[in-house]
Amino acid sequence: MKLILGIGGGIAAYKSAELARILMQNGHEVQAVMTSAAQKFVQPLTFAALTGRRVLTDLFALEAAIEHISVAQENQLLAIAPATADLLAKFAHGLADDFLTTLYLAFTGPVVLAPAMNVNMWQHPATQSNLAALRARGHCIVAPESGYLACGMTGPGRLADPQAIAQAIEQALSTSRDLEGETILITAGPTQEPLDPVRFISNRSSGKMGYALAEAAIARGARVILVSGPVHLEPPRGADLIPVRTATEMRDKVFESLGPTTIVVKAAAVADFHLSRVPDQKVKKTAARLSLELDPTPDILAELGRKKGDRLLIGFAAETQNLQAEARRKLESKNCDMIVANLVGTAGSGFDSDQNEAILVLRSGDSISLPRAPKREIADRIFDQIPKLRLALQTAK
Ligand SMILES: Cc1cc2nc3c(=O)[nH]c(=O)nc-3n(C[C@H](O)[C@H](O)[C@H](O)COP(=O)(O)O)c2cc1C
Repeated sequence: MKLILGIGGGIAAYKSAELARILMQNGHEVQAVMTSAAQKFVQPLTFAALTGRRVLTDLFALEAAIEHISVAQENQLLAIAPATADLLAKFAHGLADDFLTTLYLAFTGPVVLAPAMNVNMWQHPATQSNLAALRARGHCIVAPESGYLACGMTGPGRLADPQAIAQAIEQALSTSRDLEGETILITAGPTQEPLDPVRFISNRSSGKMGYALAEAAIARGARVILVSGPVHLEPPRGADLIPVRTATEMRDKVFESLGPTTIVVKAAAVADFHLSRVPDQKVKKTAARLSLELDPTPDILAELGRKKGDRLLIGFAAETQNLQAEARRKLESKNCDMIVANLVGTAGSGFDSDQNEAILVLRSGDSISLPRAPKREIADRIFDQIPKLRLALQTAK
């Protein structure tokens, strides 16, 4: 495959030569790009000799104008090793003042970052918040190792082993377009069930998990239909967005769109109850007490379970207790292939947070624990299960 190896200006730049060699040996075409700081540490000639190609260093080179765009389009993956604190900051904030940073913005494929720096630079809140932003964007971060650093200090900051970086690159390449050909219907956000023309019942779902799933699926090559309740989020680029308000509307749009879908992910927090007869006029504050008689909303997941055919069906279970047992019960009763179960109410995860932690409960009987991570990362771990789920569905037939 064709990939770009970006080299930043750190002591570990020399180790990137070994990485270039491994990638070439693995059969890839490697286009090296060096920052001007990187060239203070290693000569471009080293990478030119190892990759058999001219090394790109200059945004304003006369021989090939707008090369940063063509290189971005021609390659399948962008790896940066070492990723300096400076490059992480520039990528996180979208600065584009040289070939590599401009290329980064023009590149739409998977990105693997292998940071290396002094331990204090690594632990600085600025670096950590840049890393969090890059992780949330779905980039793979190959964590630096702990050990003796060139600055004489000991701690995390040493570039990961080139073999480990090459392995992360192979992994990112193998999952990068693995959902090509799939049409994935994702539901997201809360629903709003009207009580009168101005009031409604809803819940604390922000839609962030469903939108992260849509982003991840699009990045992995799927067509995405996103049926979304009311949220305050930018729709992911490339998703076919179908906005809905109530559980009944969501049910209708899900079944209208179901035809071409191969995978359904029900991440929406659909209201369980609604007023089946909503008054036409605003309810006045006349009585001392108001009782609402609520009826159940349509059970979309159960209906999908009955009509799913060969599709994979992934449901979500937000529980406040007995997480695994509830998830397994839901999996069986709704005929799902997997349930993503999360405890809600735990500080920092679940509803309205950028992070989540979950247990994946599979039809095969397996359960996989996903430790707390940005929702975009959780979304990728969920889609990593697709081959396993398909195999379980086929063998169950
Ligand atoms: C001897 C030396 C070693 C350095 N090592 C690192 C390093 O390992 N990691 C890092 O983030 N910055 C390191 N720096 C600082 C970067 O070179 C500097 O921030 C530079 O602007 C990075 O440019 P670039 O990100 O465009 O490559 C080092 C600087 C010097 C002088």
